[in-house]
Amino acid sequence: MDMEKLVSLCKRRGFLFQSSEIYGGLNGFWDYGPLGVELKRNIKDAWWRDMVSGHDDLVTLPGAPAAYEMVGLDCSIIMHPQVWKVSGHYDLFVDKMVDCKESKGRYRADHIRCFPVQIDGQTVGWVSSMKEPEEFAKGLSNTFDKKVSKLFGGKETKIVVDSHVSYSTISVPDRVKVLGPDASELNTLTEPRDFNLMFKTIVGALGTEEDAAFLRPETAQGIFVNFKNVCDSTRVRVPFGIAQSGKSFRNEITPKNFTFRSREFEQMEIEFFCHPSTSRKWYEYWRDRRMKWYTDLGLSSERLQLREHHQDELSHYSTGTADIEYAFPFLPAGEYGELEGVAHRGDFDLRSHMEGKLDPDSKPDLKVQLGPDGKPKWRGSGKDLTYRDELTNERFTPHVIEPSAGADRATLAFLCEAYHEDEAPDENGKLQTRVVMKFHPRIAPIKVAIFPLVKKEGMPEIAQDIYRKLKKRWNVFYDEKGAVGRRYRRQDEVGTPFCITVDGQTLQDGTVTVRDRDSLEQKRVHQDQLVAELETRLS
Ligand code: GAP
Repeated sequence: MDMEKLVSLCKRRGFLFQSSEIYGGLNGFWDYGPLGVELKRNIKDAWWRDMVSGHDDLVTLPGAPAAYEMVGLDCSIIMHPQVWKVSGHYDLFVDKMVDCKESKGRYRADHIRCFPVQIDGQTVGWVSSMKEPEEFAKGLSNTFDKKVSKLFGGKETKIVVDSHVSYSTISVPDRVKVLGPDASELNTLTEPRDFNLMFKTIVGALGTEEDAAFLRPETAQGIFVNFKNVCDSTRVRVPFGIAQSGKSFRNEITPKNFTFRSREFEQMEIEFFCHPSTSRKWYEYWRDRRMKWYTDLGLSSERLQLREHHQDELSHYSTGTADIEYAFPFLPAGEYGELEGVAHRGDFDLRSHMEGKLDPDSKPDLKVQLGPDGKPKWRGSGKDLTYRDELTNERFTPHVIEPSAGADRATLAFLCEAYHEDEAPDENGKLQTRVVMKFHPRIAPIKVAIFPLVKKEGMPEIAQDIYRKLKKRWNVFYDEKGAVGRRYRRQDEVGTPFCITVDGQTLQDGTVTVRDRDSLEQKRVHQDQLVAELETRLS
C-alpha cells in the first residue's frame, strides 16, 4: 500500500489534518477532521465497550483464571510533580539527543547521519537519518519526502543520495542532491546528552521553578495514585482492572511517520490488579485477549505480530512483556511498529507510590534526592496501598498487568489496513479503479448513506424519512447530488459499509436497495425492515 495515497486521502476526505496547518503546521501535532474524529471515537468506544462497560463480571471469560471486574477513571492531565519523580519519569524518561553543529538541528542520538540537501549546489536544508547511506537511500520515508518537498515550495522532488536515485515522485530532476556521509561525518554531531521527554509547565501565577509541573506522559499513573480511592469507593475485589483513555504528551525529539510518533496522543490503558500467585496467568490472558481484539476489529493476522520481550529486555520487576506490533506500510519490509505493550509490572508501581514518607514541610523537590548510599531516594506518598482480601484475610500488594494501547496508532493501523484499490463498474457499466476503505462496520465513521436515485417523483422525501429514522441510531449520511454511481464511490472512499437507494420500485412496493461496500451486492429490503436488517449487518 502506498502511504502517500493514504495520507492524501486522509486530508482530502477529512480524516486527518496537520495541526495549525494555515501557519505551516507544528511538527508532531495532528488534528482529526470530521470523519477522523468519528473513526477514532468508534475505536475508543469499541475498546471501552469491549474492555469495560460491556464486560460481564459475573462470568469467567475463556482463558481468564477467574471472573473479574472492570471499572473506569478519567484523571487530570497535570498531576502532583512527585508522581513523576516516584514513577521514575522525572529522572529516567529520557532520550539521548545530539546537536548537529553544521545544520544547528537537534536529533535523536540514534540518528547517525546528518545530510545536507542541495539544490544546484546550494545547501537549502538538512535531513537526518538512523541508517547508513545505502539503507537510507532505500528507505526514504514520507516525512523525509515532505520535508524536502517543502524546501521547494511543495513541488515534487527527485532526491539523489550519493548518486543513488532513491526516491522519485518527480520533476526537479538531478538538481536536488542529498550529500552522502563524506560531506557530513559524525564529527559534526555533538556528544549524546539526555533529553527528558516530559512537557514542563507552570501551575499558578508566581511562575517559579517550584511551581513547575508536567503534562502526563502516560495515563497509567493516574490509575495507580487512585488505587486506594477506587477500592474504598466501590466494592471491587482483586482481581479487577481500572481503565482510562485520554491524552498523553511526550516531547519526542523526532516525531515521524504521520501520527505514529506524535508529541500529543491518546492512550487507552488498563491496570489490572491481581494476586501475585496468579499474575503470570493473568499476563498471558491479557496478552492474548488484546491481540484478539485487533483481529476481531479487522486487522489481518498476517500483518500483526506478538513479540515477547527477551529476558534481558525486561525490567527487574517484570516477568513478562509482549508488544503487539503491526507491519505499517511506511516501515521497511519485515519491520513492525508497536501498537500496544502488555507488561507484567509486578508490584513496582503501587510499592513506589507507597514507600517512604514525604516530609510535610518540604515543597515538591524536583531534583533527584540521593540517599546515604548514593542511590536515588524515592519518596512515595507514605499511604498504605496494600490490599486485604476479605475472604482469606491475607494482606498483600497486588501485582499489576498493564495492557497499554495507543488510540492514534490503532487508528493509523485501521486506516492502513482499510485502504484498498479494486475495480468497480461506473454508472455506464465501465470498470473503473475504485478506492475503498474496508473498515469493520463497528468502526466505520459513517454507517449508512441514503440516496434518492433522482431528485423528483417524491424520492427525496422518502429517502429523507429513512435518513431521519436511521439517524436516531447511527451516524448516517444523506446525499442527493450527482450521479448515483459517483455517490457510491464517494462513500466507498470513506468506508461506509452500506448505501441505501430509493428508486422507482420503492414508489410501488416500498422496498429500497441496500448495497454492500465490499461485495457490491444489492439486495432489496422493505423500508420497514431496514432497522432490523442493518442492526444485523452492522454488528
Ligand atoms: N504506561 C505504559 C506506557 O505508556 P508505552 O509503550 O510508552 O507504555 C503505550 O506507550 C502506547 O502508547 C504505545 O504502544 C503506543 O501505542 C502509544 N504511544 C506511545 N508513545 C507514542 C507517541 N509518541 N505517539 C503516538 N502513540 C504513542
